[in-house]
Amino acid sequence: MIRALSKSSTLCKAIRLGPLMLVALVLSIALPQVAATADAPAAQAAAAAANAPSPEQLRNASWIADGRLRFVQTCAYCHGTRGEGGKNKPFEERTGWDPHEIFNVISNGRIRGANAMPSWKESFSEREIWQLVAYVKSLSADFAGPIDDKSPK
Ligand code: HEC
Repeated sequence: MIRALSKSSTLCKAIRLGPLMLVALVLSIALPQVAATADAPAAQAAAAAANAPSPEQLRNASWIADGRLRFVQTCAYCHGTRGEGGKNKPFEERTGWDPHEIFNVISNGRIRGANAMPSWKESFSEREIWQLVAYVKSLSADFAGPIDDKSPK
């Protein structure tokens, strides 16, 4: 009788330890990946800069149209269809807006006080993000102006 009890309490322990072991296992798999991705934003920014489209490409009408479609579907409920929503300056009032900065905000998201913009780099390809950049840039006040040195090289 006593034996049976002690056996079952060992079993109990094993069952209680089960979830802990699982957590340890998951952590041991996940942690190296977290460490590996710590450098990812810098690496990603460098890669994105290398792949940045030309100023002409960013003004490509079909890129802007594709970007607009995606913006209306995924971004407009926070920003409004033309970036007029939110607490920051409306997109239409922006000038000299660095496309790399726009690319980085869309890729990595941003936290401003209680407001958070999610990161989109897992949802969209680099090309799709650049198309969003093309649309955002097309809204800005100096869009129709000449290509200046703030445009990507
Ligand atoms: C859940 C709400 C939300 C969604 C969805 C969202 N954003 Fe944002 N976005 C924010 C917030 C909050 C900020 C930070 C505001 C600030 O810069 O003060 C921001 C900032 C930005 C900025 C920088 C604005 C500036 O003035 O510097 C850009 C560009 C931008 N978002 C584009 C996008 C695009 C493109 C999408 C869709 C792929 C998107 N956002 C989806 C909430 C959102």
